Order: sequence, then structure tokens, then C-alpha cells
Amino acid sequence: MSHAFQQCIHPDCQASYDIGQILTACETCGSLLDVQYDWERIAVPTSLLEFETRWSNRLNPLDLSGVWRFRELLGFPADEQIVTIGEGQTILQQNDRLASVIGMNPEKLFLQYEGLNPSGSFKDNGMTAASTHARMVGAKMTACASTGNTSASLAIYAGVSGLFQCVVFVGSGKIAYGKLSQALDYGATTLQIDGDFDDALARVRELCAEHPIYLCNSVNPFRLEGQKTIMFRVLEGLGWEVPDWIVVPGGNLGNSSSFGKAFMELKQLGLIDRIPRLAIINAAGASTLDELVNDNKLQWNDGRNNAAVIRDYYASMDGEDRRASTLASAIEINRPVNLVKALRALNVCDGVVRSVTDQEIVDARALIAANGFGCEPASGATIAGLRQLRTEGVIAASDRVACVLTGHQLKDPDLTVAYHTDDSEKQAEKLHPAGVHLTPHANSPITVRNDTAAIVHALGLA
Ligand code: F0G
Repeated sequence: MSHAFQQCIHPDCQASYDIGQILTACETCGSLLDVQYDWERIAVPTSLLEFETRWSNRLNPLDLSGVWRFRELLGFPADEQIVTIGEGQTILQQNDRLASVIGMNPEKLFLQYEGLNPSGSFKDNGMTAASTHARMVGAKMTACASTGNTSASLAIYAGVSGLFQCVVFVGSGKIAYGKLSQALDYGATTLQIDGDFDDALARVRELCAEHPIYLCNSVNPFRLEGQKTIMFRVLEGLGWEVPDWIVVPGGNLGNSSSFGKAFMELKQLGLIDRIPRLAIINAAGASTLDELVNDNKLQWNDGRNNAAVIRDYYASMDGEDRRASTLASAIEINRPVNLVKALRALNVCDGVVRSVTDQEIVDARALIAANGFGCEPASGATIAGLRQLRTEGVIAASDRVACVLTGHQLKDPDLTVAYHTDDSEKQAEKLHPAGVHLTPHANSPITVRNDTAAIVHALGLA
């Protein structure tokens, strides 16, 4: 029997619901929902070290999964209900070369490569959990709106498990080709909407409210349970020591929300003795959280946050017809649905929010690739944000920092090639509209004649 339930996050409501209900908001007050646990009745390991014993049992798919290896900490399903495709085989890489370039001390900078997931992004951590819940409630059809990675992830889970059909909504021209190709390849019914991510999300929410279709966006509280494990693996990679900072890009704010919940619960369970600080990095062209928190002083305020501030902000956004615009298409979002949960995470983690420009994002992305495994543009925001926070002195060179690289380098090859090429047409098409230019990090291809002597000459060997 499950000891989990759904609960409204508003402190004056806290309505609770059975895990068998399909909800994306509180039926009483409309706030977001959490999955909560009756921890007293769950056999949670007394030390995080105990999870390591599962490494020796990798033939069991639940122990192989980097999500379900921690199943007592997200124990809403019975083991036999879990839908897993081997997600979460990610690594935490200590990167001293990159650290030295951005002014961090050796042994202090760590990159959490979520691009190593089956569909190439962190979304698989959440989608295994959402798919599991979809199976528990007998869903036959699932759906999501996406800037590309959620759709790729949902499509792979639907395809591999064969448990349900899936429909994905994407904004026309708003999705990197690597991601679109995945949804098509994995067999998702793909709807291209004349609009952006926010439009696509509004439409899919309407559809799911009126039809028996299971919604897999991050308003789904079960999905966020899976994303907590990204933090468990960061701790695991550090020998269960808590870092000083976690740096993460902010889009719809599902990750930031789930990270805050993860640390809140680990502390409550006595599995960690302190909580790291959290830095959420927006793209300057999609900086709703940054503006609300830093300019409009919006805070968690014990869950009684100032709804009027949010309402007024969105009203002025609509009034001025301001729409998010960034080369980091994954985080090109106007109204982050997990805004209030992210405020809670910032409160729990004594967090900060910053914005970085597209130029900073693409330069940081190239810098990461030149010194590590590479990532997509949105993930580059972490290193650009870390740079800014180092310059401000908010993060010290001696702080231990884990940056979450959310998506694989090959998700958006067009942008990468445009960045490195000196083909002005490609550049103009991809980079110049955003005012971004070729920079010192670019590694342009050399055009050379099909001739050995010319090649030797081009390589400077003669
Ligand atoms: N990084 C990548 C690579 C993403 O794909 C996303 C979100 C984010 C960061 C932002 O994460 O929403 O948890 O704050 N992509 C969504 C999608 C919106 O549809 O794939 P968040």
C-alpha cells in the first residue's frame, strides 16, 4: 500500500488528494500540488550511503535506474508499476580546466551531465515518474507542450513502453531540430502550433481538462518527484557531501522546484545536515523569475506570496505584448508554471536568481564544450550565471559548485555550427537576429582544397 498522497502547497488550504486522482492543480484553491509522504510508515534508509549497495545489483532495472535506485524517497508506486528505460545513468564531472577559466579554485567546479539520459536531457528523470503514474491510473493517451526536450522524453517513454499513445504540442519554429527529430522518430503525434511554448501549454491544458488525456508537463506533481533524484545523484557524486551551490537554468521552473523539495525532505529525514544554496539562471530574453524576484521583490513569504504582484506583472507583459525571445529555445518561456514552487525552493535554499544574455549563453556553451562533454544552449546559462555570480562575489572561488547541464550538446547542432562557422549566411540566420556574433571561443572549420600539399600547408606543417 502506498503511503503517498497529493497535497495543495498553499499553507491556508493544504487540501489533500489520493494518488489515484489525476490533478494538475488544487480543486479547492487552484494552487500547485505536491506529492507528500507519510514518512513514518516508509522504510527510508537511515543513511544515504545505503543507496550505494544497489550499484552491485544493476541487473535489477529498478536498481540500475538513477531515479528508482532512490525509490524510498519517491515511493508513490509499487515496484511492479514502475516504468523505467534505464534513465539517470549520468555523471558528475569535476572540471578543473573550466574552473580555472571562470575563476574557481581547483576541485570546486562540478558539472552534472543530464544530457546522458536516454532522450538526451534531464526530462527523463521526471518522465519515468509521470509515465509510472500514468500507468497507475490506466491512462491510454498522454500529452505535453514542449520547447523540445519534454516532447522528446515523453515520446521515448511512450514508444519504448508501448503503454500509451502520446501527443506533443510544440510552437512552430520554436524548437531545435535535434529535439523535433526525436519526437517524430519515436512516433509521437506532433502538433505544431502557431504560437510559442506558453500558447502550446495553454492549448494542451485545455485539451487534457476536457478529454481523457494524461498531462505530462511539470504541473504534474508526480513528474517532479523523479527530478528530485538529479540532486541525489549530485550528492552521490560528491560522496554524499553537500555542495555550497547548485546552479540550474530556469525555464518552467520544474527543476528548481523539485531540487528545493529534495533538499527540504532530505533535511527533514535527517539524511543531510545542511542545504546548499541555489542559483537559478534565466535567459535575459525570458527573465520572468529574475524580474519578479529582483525587481518586484516577490518572495515565498510562507506560501502567502503576493499574487497581485504576479498578476500585475503578467498584465503588463500582455499589455506591452512582450514575448520571451532567446537563442536558448529550451527556456524561452513567459509564464513559468512552477513559479510559486520555485519561490519556495529559493526560500529553502537561500537562493538567488540572475539573467544572462544570449551572447553570454552561447559563449559559455562553447566554453563548456571546449573543456568538457558539451551541452545545449540553455544549459550554458549555468556557467554564464556562475561567471556573473563570481564577478559579483556572491559565489567564492573556494565554494563547491555543481552546475546542472540539462541537455545534450547534439540537441541543437544548428546553433553550434552557426557559432563556429565563418559562413556569414548561416551566422546571419541563426545568431545575428539575436545580436550575437562569432567570438574568441569559436572554432571555425578551415576550407581546404582536396590536395595533400594544401592540407599540409593549412595545418602549418610546411
Ligand atoms: N534546460 C533544458 C535543456 C530544458 O529543456 C528546459 C526546459 C530547461 C532547462 C528548463 O527547465 O522548465 O525545469 O526550469 N524545457 C521544457 C521543455 C520547457 O518543454 O522541454 P525547467
